[in-house]
Amino acid sequence: MSDTSAAPSLPQLKRVRTRHFQSAKDQGITITGLTSYDMLTAQIFDDAGIDFLLVGDSAGNNVLGYDTTLPVTVDELIPLARAVAGAVTRAFVIADMPFGSYETGQEEALHTAVRFMKETGAHAVKLEGGIRSAEQIRRIVDAGIPVMAHIGFTPQSEHGLGGHIIQGRGAGVEQLLADAHAVEDAGAFAVVLEMVPAASAALVTKELRIPTIGVGAGPDVDGQLLVWTDWAGLTTGRVPKFVKKYADLRQVLGDAAAAYKADVTSGQYPSSEHSYE
Ligand code: KIV
Repeated sequence: MSDTSAAPSLPQLKRVRTRHFQSAKDQGITITGLTSYDMLTAQIFDDAGIDFLLVGDSAGNNVLGYDTTLPVTVDELIPLARAVAGAVTRAFVIADMPFGSYETGQEEALHTAVRFMKETGAHAVKLEGGIRSAEQIRRIVDAGIPVMAHIGFTPQSEHGLGGHIIQGRGAGVEQLLADAHAVEDAGAFAVVLEMVPAASAALVTKELRIPTIGVGAGPDVDGQLLVWTDWAGLTTGRVPKFVKKYADLRQVLGDAAAAYKADVTSGQYPSSEHSYE
């Protein structure tokens, strides 16, 4: 477990807002984020001082039982985002715009962003893509809605990219930089860099004014984000190399379920302690 005593953070804030992302970067304070898809984890992570919660379309893999994020719909994410936004007092909540909800143009993108803001209480939206999504970002920002951008490996383009492949390597760093500048110029308040070499992420972080949030982008970024079910050891199968497991909830819950079953089948539960007179 990391030593949490020394590093500066943003704990004194009543509520994290977009301007605090920028002041964190300006002051060299690292921003922390986790995904969340429900009220209980949102409360726990908020109480722990996590700065922002992303209601990611990774709910597709982690809640809804899909193989990828591609089938996830706005209607599926809205109740999850509402539960998370309604549960926090301090954390900044970002709703992810799923595949098929913004690609056709600015009006579709704005319509989706407005739905998330009106129907969930989230504080911002996130969408994938650099240069290709810049016009959509600009339109949403112009309407007063904060946008977190997402470049590097973008899971919604998994098939176009040819699988889970590290982006921004070698000559790819030029594309990464171009995408980063495009989303900054379009008005994004922060940008996620997913699965890019640490040196490329460091370069982008140095060049950009807005904060970079790394997911598998090494230490030289302005903030870190992880999918909570990977981070807490719930996910089975392939977990990316960049994930550090902070708990083993699969083991804890599995052991609890086995102990419950043993108690029920042996008659030890419920005892008088757990029964009404
Ligand atoms: O949906 C998600 O969880 C994400 C993060 C991995 C960046 O987009």
